[in-house]
Amino acid sequence: MTARLVVCTTCRFSSEEPVDADGLSGGQALLKAVVTAVEATGANALQVEAQACLWACRSHCVVYLAQPGKPAYVAGTFAPTNDAAKTIIDFARRYAASFDGAVPYREWPEGMKGRFIARLPE
Ligand code: FES
Repeated sequence: MTARLVVCTTCRFSSEEPVDADGLSGGQALLKAVVTAVEATGANALQVEAQACLWACRSHCVVYLAQPGKPAYVAGTFAPTNDAAKTIIDFARRYAASFDGAVPYREWPEGMKGRFIARLPE
């Protein structure tokens, strides 16, 4: 079954700057990195989507992960980088493959730890 990975496109690039030198927001940069990483890894269990503002702006950059029958997660404070994208995808693939949406803590990529904002009922 396919999980939705929604990336906020309007998140700031950094605490100091809303966009990078090319005018790209942090969310746009992270989305670009996520799409590239998904294509490179063939992570076909993920449907990547873009949405402006997930209302967790203080914790930029923010993503939302959901799949029917499982709790959804909001996570943030990611840097808009390829490494962060790979971390997010790694966790998202484990989530998609899980029975009930619970990924054992020992399997969490290091970069996901401390970044969850909310766990939402299914
Ligand atoms: S701008 Fe990204 S959560 Fe609001």
